[in-house]
Amino acid sequence: MSDLTLTGLAKSFGDNTVLHDLDLHVNNGELFTLLGPSGCGKSTTLWSIAGLHSPDGGRIAFGDRVVFDAGGRIDVPPEKRNCGVVFQSYAVWPHLTVHDNVGYPLKLRKVSRRERTRRVQEVLELVELSGLEDRYPHELSGGQQQRVALARALAHPPDLLLLDEPFSNLDAKLRERARDWLKILQRRISVTTVFVTHDQDEALSMSDRIMVMDHGRVRQVGTPEEIYHEPADEFVADFIGTVNVLGGHVAPGTDRSQVWVEGLGRPLAVSPPAPLEGDARLAIRPERIIVHPAGAPATTANLVTVKVRSQAFLGDHYRYVVALGDHELIVRSMTRIDHGTELTVELPPEAIRAYVTDGRR
Ligand SMILES: Nc1ncnc2c1ncn2[C@@H]1O[C@H](COP(=O)(O)OP(=O)(O)OP(=O)(O)O)[C@@H](O)[C@H]1O
Ligand SMILES: [Mg+2]
Repeated sequence: MSDLTLTGLAKSFGDNTVLHDLDLHVNNGELFTLLGPSGCGKSTTLWSIAGLHSPDGGRIAFGDRVVFDAGGRIDVPPEKRNCGVVFQSYAVWPHLTVHDNVGYPLKLRKVSRRERTRRVQEVLELVELSGLEDRYPHELSGGQQQRVALARALAHPPDLLLLDEPFSNLDAKLRERARDWLKILQRRISVTTVFVTHDQDEALSMSDRIMVMDHGRVRQVGTPEEIYHEPADEFVADFIGTVNVLGGHVAPGTDRSQVWVEGLGRPLAVSPPAPLEGDARLAIRPERIIVHPAGAPATTANLVTVKVRSQAFLGDHYRYVVALGDHELIVRSMTRIDHGTELTVELPPEAIRAYVTDGRR
């Protein structure tokens, strides 16, 4: 077991630069998720850690042990890095029984047959598959097969567990169960884990910390709550969950806690204030918008009149698209409101995050 440090990791395929000087630190025992859109470099990062790709630059250390250093010409081969790896499409060998699949890494390490059987039974118990040793993969469900792959990754206790979209072949219900189950198991054996997914729900629900990536660069690292409530930029806000974005402007020399909103004809108060003057983007989550179906409330800050354009019933709440000046906003409410209704909504200043892309201080 160890922590993991990537320093200045760089990787190109031809003239396509996939990783730009990536820095990353994963604490001992942490479940750390790489999250980002397709093609942003998540698998390339994971494969580099496993030793299946050779980066062009940078350094990778497991605790004090340097396994890759472009400058010092160190590149420890994958089988010597002691990572347990589970890939989406690299599941189990169809011609081997569960026992032989799980025991394979031990056989490679020339572990005795007796010790192998003991260890296989131990990890099968861990992944709750005891008694299925003699089955072949085609005699198992998809979820069970992924657990066999996980048992195989854990058979020889790994320094790092690397999981690349391990649940993406499972149906929605099974995937949810698999997440809960893996999280409990990971805490129990406290193995340092790097988990790759492009599914935000999966990342939010499982991780100790998340790194949001975009085009081979780090956008933000933080706990699920930090990433969701305090997204570092509009990309992160938009990638995680649903967000309303309004275009606006902070005029030079004016109060930066008042952002003029395009198409609304008035400013909205924001707290904290916009960091800079200039063109601004205001982001607010639907669930932070307060709907006042029955008239105006006592507060006067950021009350706006909107008109209901469309409505969807989602079981535990209604989701509305409402017109706000020239904008559309998504809001949610427990109350049913008819199409065409005019109502008052409140955009609390502290629920609005203001981003200024190329402004002045
Ligand atoms: N072996 C390779 N040869 C050439 N280009 C590659 C290779 N592997 C990956 N790439 C490119 O590198 C970029 C990053 O790929 P990577 O597989 O790391 O993305 P990802 O974030 O894992 O995406 P996904 O969510 O779709 O799995 C992509 O543009 C991809 O086309
Ligand atoms: Mg990938």
